[in-house]
Order: sequence, then C-alpha cells, then structure tokens
Amino acid sequence: MSTFTGKSALVTGASAGLGGEFALQLAALGVNHLVLTARRTDRLESLKASLLGIYSGLHIDTIPTDLSDPEALTQFIGAMDEAGFSPDILINNAGFGDLGTFETSEPARIESMLAVNIVALTRLTRWALTGMLKSGSGWICNVGSTAGLIPIPSFAVYGATKAYVNSFSEALRIELHRSGVYVTALCPGPVETEFGEVASRANSKRQFEPPAFLCVHKADVVAQTLTALARGQGRVIPGLPVRFGMLLAESTPRWILRFVFNLMSGDFRKERQAALGKQ
Ligand SMILES: NC(=O)c1ccc[n+]([C@@H]2O[C@H](COP(=O)([O-])OP(=O)(O)OC[C@H]3O[C@@H](n4cnc5c(N)ncnc54)[C@H](OP(=O)(O)O)[C@@H]3O)[C@@H](O)[C@H]2O)c1
Repeated sequence: MSTFTGKSALVTGASAGLGGEFALQLAALGVNHLVLTARRTDRLESLKASLLGIYSGLHIDTIPTDLSDPEALTQFIGAMDEAGFSPDILINNAGFGDLGTFETSEPARIESMLAVNIVALTRLTRWALTGMLKSGSGWICNVGSTAGLIPIPSFAVYGATKAYVNSFSEALRIELHRSGVYVTALCPGPVETEFGEVASRANSKRQFEPPAFLCVHKADVVAQTLTALARGQGRVIPGLPVRFGMLLAESTPRWILRFVFNLMSGDFRKERQAALGKQ
C-alpha cells in the first residue's frame, strides 16, 4: 500500500515526457482513477490502452484539451464537474518553453506559453483545491523548473513563467499548512523528453542541448517527485549535480550572476546585428 493507493489523480500534459511517466508511476502506486489531458488524442488513447493492459481495474478518462485556450479550459473543468470528478492528486505538468531572444519571439507563442504555464496551472489549482479542502486531504504537484530559480537569458519568458510556478507553489504551501493539502514544486533541470524539440525554434542555430551530466532520466525525476509529494516536501530538484549547481546559483549574489551572463551578451549582439542585416 502506498500513500496514493485508491486515490484519484489529474495529470496534465500526459501525452509525452514527464506527464506520461507520472501517469505510469501513479498507476503503479495504486491510484484507482486517472484523468489524463493534453492536446494529442492519439497519444492519450495509446497511453490509456497500455495502462489498462497492465491495470485492468483502473478507471481512466482522457479529455483532450488545448490548455492555452481559456474557453477550452472552462469546458474541461466543466466536464470534470459534470462527471463529479474531484482529484485527490493534481499534477500540473503541461508546459513548454521557447528558446531564443525575446526580441525575436513570436507574440502568439509567448501568449500561449503564459496561458499554459501560468493561467491554466493556476485555474486548475484553484478548482481542485475546493474539493481537496472539503475532504481534508490532497496533493498538488506544480511542475516548475530550475530555469525559474535564476533568470536565464534566451529563456526569459519561459524562466519567468517557471519563477511564477515556483513562487506560487511555495506561498500556497504555507497558506495550506495543516489543512491536509500538500503542495510540492518540482524544479527539474534538463530531462530528455520532447521539451527541447518543442522549445527550439525552427531555423534557429540556438538549440536546447544541455550537458549530459546534468540530465536526469524522466523515470527518476517522477519517482523522486512522487516520494517527495507523499512526504509533503515543498520542493524537489532531482539529480545531485543539478541540486548542487542550484545551491551555488541561488546563493551567488545577483551582480556576479549578471557579470557571468553578460559574458554571453556578445552572442545576442551578433544575433541582433545579423537579424537587422537581413531586414
Ligand atoms: N524536459 C526538461 O528538460 C524540463 C526541465 C524543466 C521543466 N520541465 C517542465 O516539465 C513539464 C513537462 O515537460 P516535458 O519535459 O515532459 O516536455 P514534453 O515532452 O514536451 O511534454 C509537454 C506536455 O505538455 C503538453 N502541452 C503543451 N502545450 C499544451 C497545450 N497548449 N495544451 C495542453 N497540453 C499542452 C504536451 O501535450 P500536447 O502537445 O499533446 O498538447 C505534452 O504532453 C513542462 O512544464 C516543462 O516546462 C521540463
């Protein structure tokens, strides 16, 4: 028996990467009802089929939704209310990044990122909290990032959305102290998923290529997170090298970080001049 045996869970971004892994590991821990969402219906359906192949007694609902669309999000919440579904566990995992300078970003993509990484996560937390507080227990895992712990040039907006997630989760956790509802912020460093491919812009030389020694396997990220969630821990940074790097970065005075990051500014200047040259 695990803490999560017989509980229900909602996992966003379940069609790939960490979300799919959360679904797999929650099922293995004995969750009895899973609601899985993302945009890609085929991926959700094949995950459902493979989970049911292993855990035939598991109840799984797949609800394809574009979380960047406020109307679709309202309908998604409405569908869960109509079905009388109120999760014991909320994994707010859906999200994406956009790698490149802010001045060359696409405004529509930036707005979509704000909507998924911040707005949807906040609305789903607010919605799920009502039922959790009524029952006096619940677990919320908000997927932030180490990119939200220090400002990262060329990931300016993405990092800021994750800073929101990290900060929101820490504050909410304190508000909910002794309520029976636990909030955990997951702050992963690099994990091999589709994240890099989605974040890298087409026709851009800048690609998401983190050093291999910092990468943690998605199965380890999720296992460490679910253990931390069950224990009611506030924050998880999977992987020793990433944890150590973040400890160093978070305790470094901001002016030193600026100095280090300014060493990269030549690249940004060159990119700007090249872009201006093309106009
Ligand atoms: N991988 C890393 O290195 C890393 C590091 C730090 C933090 N993170 C965070 O971890 C979380 C999971 O990312 P991942 O690494 O597993 O990346 P991934 O493999 O690209 O998965 C992202 C998931 O989010 C869903 N999603 C994206 N846009 C959506 C939208 N508009 N509506 C609904 N769902 C949407 C995707 O589903 P559809 O495309 O089917 O909609 C997919 O299931 C994200 O919040 C990411 O920021 C990742």
